[in-house]
Amino acid sequence: MITRLAYLGITSPHTAEWPDLVRNVWGAQLVDGPDGAVRIKFDDAAWRLQIHPGDEDRTEYIGWAVNYEEDLDEVLRVCADLGVEHGRGDDELAASRDVNRLVFFTDPWGFRHEVTWGQSSVPGSFLATRPITGFVTGDQGLGHVLLLLPDIEEGHRFFSNFGFRLSDKIIVPGRLNARFYHCNTRHHSLALGQGPPGTAGLNHLMIEVKDMDDVGTGYELAQTHEVPITLSLGRHTNDGQFSFYHRTPSSFHVEYGWGGIEVDDEVWIPRVYDRTATWGHIPGEGTKGGPGLMHPLAETGVPATDAVQG
Ligand SMILES: [Fe+2]
Repeated sequence: MITRLAYLGITSPHTAEWPDLVRNVWGAQLVDGPDGAVRIKFDDAAWRLQIHPGDEDRTEYIGWAVNYEEDLDEVLRVCADLGVEHGRGDDELAASRDVNRLVFFTDPWGFRHEVTWGQSSVPGSFLATRPITGFVTGDQGLGHVLLLLPDIEEGHRFFSNFGFRLSDKIIVPGRLNARFYHCNTRHHSLALGQGPPGTAGLNHLMIEVKDMDDVGTGYELAQTHEVPITLSLGRHTNDGQFSFYHRTPSSFHVEYGWGGIEVDDEVWIPRVYDRTATWGHIPGEGTKGGPGLMHPLAETGVPATDAVQG
């Protein structure tokens, strides 16, 4: 029933460091949010990434969208069956997210998910802040997130209930175990990576531009603006994304890419790859701060391999 990634919310003490990255490297648009929040627009939607001021870096919420209002009831039914904490957001919460309605649940790894219908959008309202062709969103949503979990099998069973279908796996024995899921034609909107035991976290958000040169100029500008590069330019094996990764001021990474393939769920056959990149994606300085925006878990999971970039 979930059909796309709608938005992402982060709490961070580093809100002041965000505008330079957003405006001068990504070319995305800044709008003022309430209570000092930094809101970032990638298209005509009111906003898609929000950084709330706070004492520590935290993944506050991951916002998804359904196509039909009634699908929100189905989300709640699934949550009740799974026995996870869930509820309906009131009008005030919906208004604060610029959506018509929303429901929410907390997954077994402590991530709060908000499933929404009716995201506010004003045609022609997006203004890029550097010369780029714009971002690939629409039916494909904001992009994708990769979450690190201590038990990827449990993650697979959990998220499969919400409309995510496996696109493929990347398994590098002893080093990396990741799975990629589609809920629209974007190759993946959600990816799960085996992470360290006792923690879970947001490894990266992928945002996609419409032209290869936008990635090239972004790569150059990231270095000019001293943004720590996590993975150099490269091409992914599974979704064909031409991209680079960098660290954000709030501990997680962003993949800035172009050219991801689209999948047709009717005929798609999931595959397995034994490497993440056909070329490039060489680790850089941005890897030093860790695998992402991690939070501790009450119970430790299964033994884990190294954290991933996917
Ligand atoms: Fe990615």
